[in-house]
Parts: sequence; C-alpha cells; structure tokens
Amino acid sequence: MHKIIFIAAIFFPILIYGQKFNELAKTPPMGWNSWNKIGTGVNEKLIREAAEAMVKSGMKDAGYEYINIDDYWQGKRDSLGFIHPDPERFPSGMKALGDYIHSLGLKFGIYSDAGWNTCGGKPASRGHEYQDAITYAKWGVDYLKYDWCNTEFLNPEGAYLTMNKALYSAGRPVVFSICEWGNSAPWRWAKDIGNLWRTTTDISPVFDSVVNHGTWHSFGVMQIVDRQDSIRQYAGPGHWNDPDMLEVGNGMSFNEDQAHFSLWCMLAAPLIAGNDLFNMSKETKEILTNKEAIAVDQDSLGIEGFKYSLKDGIEIWLKPLEKGDWAICFLNRGLKVMPVTFSWKKHKIFDSFSKRGIDFQKDNYIVRDLWLHKEIGTTKNSFATKLQPHEVALMRLILIK
Ligand code: GLA
Repeated sequence: MHKIIFIAAIFFPILIYGQKFNELAKTPPMGWNSWNKIGTGVNEKLIREAAEAMVKSGMKDAGYEYINIDDYWQGKRDSLGFIHPDPERFPSGMKALGDYIHSLGLKFGIYSDAGWNTCGGKPASRGHEYQDAITYAKWGVDYLKYDWCNTEFLNPEGAYLTMNKALYSAGRPVVFSICEWGNSAPWRWAKDIGNLWRTTTDISPVFDSVVNHGTWHSFGVMQIVDRQDSIRQYAGPGHWNDPDMLEVGNGMSFNEDQAHFSLWCMLAAPLIAGNDLFNMSKETKEILTNKEAIAVDQDSLGIEGFKYSLKDGIEIWLKPLEKGDWAICFLNRGLKVMPVTFSWKKHKIFDSFSKRGIDFQKDNYIVRDLWLHKEIGTTKNSFATKLQPHEVALMRLILIK
C-alpha cells in the first residue's frame, strides 16, 4: 500500500497538493473585518459589539456571517511556542470570544501572516503553522486571513500550501483567505490552496485615485476594478478573486458607496464589510443589506462579471446568473452628468468564458432596477437614464420564458 502511495505521489504530485474542506465558500464569503475602520485598535469589547450590531442591523439576515479580527490581536508566544491574544485587549481569551460569536449564529475569523511578524509587527506564523492551526481549531476559528509581510526568502505558493495543510490536518473547516496582494498572481496557483486571494494592494475609501502612504500605495475602487477583468476566469465556487474588503460607510459619497458595492457584486467578490456597524447611517445600511444586489454576488453559478464596453466614461458590466438571468451595471466613472441610452436589440452578447450569451432579438427580459427595487420595463424597449458622476444603475434581466 505504502509503495503505491509513494509511486502515485511521484507520478501524480497533484495528489499531495493542497487539500481543502469542500463545502466552504461555495458562494463568495460575506462578513465583517475590523481593519478598515478599527485598524490597530481591536479589543474584545469592540468585536463583541460588532457581532451584536451585525445581528441587530439586519446584516446577518442579509447573509453576512463572519466576524473577522484583523491584525493587532496577538500577544506573545509562550515557552512552548503557543500564541496567546494580547491579555489587555482580549482578557476573556479567544475561545470565549469565539463562543460568544457562535452563540449569535455567526462565525469567527482571525488573522495571521506567513512571515516572522505580521504587517503590524506582531508575532506571525512562520515556523509555527501547525501549532497555530491547532490553536485556532481549539478557539473555534472558522476563517483565517493570512497576510504576506516579513516573508524574506519564502515562496508564496509553498508558504500558503504549508498553512493549507496545517489547517486541514487540524481538522476544523476554515475558510482560508490568501492575502499576498496579487504579487505572485495567486489566481494561477491558489485554487486548491485557498478559498479567496487578494488581487491587489489594500483598498482605501476613495473612488478613483491612488493614495500615497510614503513606503507604499493603496488603491481606490476603480484602480482595483480595472485589475479584475483579466483574471475573472480564475474565480468560481470555492475559490474567489478578492478585490479587498468593502469601504462602504467609510467616507465616500452615497453614489460612490453604491457604485463600489454594485461593482463588488458584479465581480462575485467576497463581501466583507469594513465599516462601523454600530453607528451605521441609514444609507450605509440600505446599501450593505440590499438583498437583490447581494443575490447577484451570491448567484449559485459563481461566474465573475465582465466589462462589456467603455464609451464616454460609461462602463457597462455584465454577469451571467442562474436560470438564464443576467445582471447589468452601468457606471459613470467620469466627473460629468451623463445621459445613458441602451437599445437592447442592437446588442448581441456572448461571454466566451462562460459560453453564455444574449440575443435580444430573440429573447425578452424583464428589467428590474436593483436599487429602486422595481421593474422598469422589458428589453423590447430601450433603456434611458441620466447618471451623476460615479453613479451606477444596477439591474437584473429576468428571462421571460
Ligand atoms: C496588510 C493587509 C491589510 C491588513 C493589514 C494589517 O496591509 O493587506 O488588509 O490586514 O496588513 O496590518
């Protein structure tokens, strides 16, 4: 028997490659993460409050489930190398916090890094991968975001594979979120290792500019969106491109927040909110809990949308959905108010990746506006509207059978 496994491993190395928990992240994961709003200031009180707010605000009902603690939770390793949370910030310990999150019907996520230290200089997992995976399993962790700072001499594929194996052997199903910023094109190697992989540097709450932080740059919404179209074929159920966490509610205008959320849904992106759930405005809540937009993101086909056209600053995105439906998003990425008209019948659409298409001459669809929450006509007639700068129109085309 051992001989057979040995020979198989030589000739079919795929057999000993990544092992994933099969039923995880069949649709893009949804949740909340502390980084975008709380940053370095995490503690157990804030995390408990975020979990409670997730339930009370209606976010849980809309489908959000993971409460993820990002960097700065870590204390020290003990003499045997086991990691402990910062005792001042998390005096009740991680098991108790995980139990509390689970008691609300939510799931518990944590953060580490493949290097010696995290991006915030806290102890990371290099050399402790199996030990950390066992610790996380004991704490009841369901999601691990694994960063890429301080990783001198490491190869990303190998390092993430090590943590994949550690999580798998610890035996507790954990969504594995690869966060190496797209540097080594993880979409090419991470399908059997992780459930999602970051595609770019960090997001900032700006719509269309690059933010200079001195030693590094972060991106606005459009800088990230512009880098997704060419890699859409790598995403699918269980393994998603991750254009980073949401900045809805963190300072952009209402139109920009709505466009950001709509585009993430078109991209079948993980929807990990990053705002203050406790003090959410009515508008932010309305965006984050729009179930019709979320249904586009969470569609069971798991096909990432694509940019159909760009003319005069108007981008049109399309996404095939189940039962022959499609989502369509018109975005005014410019700074002038723009009239938009679209004569459906003049367009014949074919997506060579998903092999799905639309012939508007033959097929008729109900056009449902997903922000107005109403049907606005059918594809027999043209669509016409005016879009403010950075505004979207997001619609579902419902096939009339
Ligand atoms: C990196 C990640 C961020 C965040 C910080 C924490 O920059 O990309 O999402 O996790 O580290 O230090």
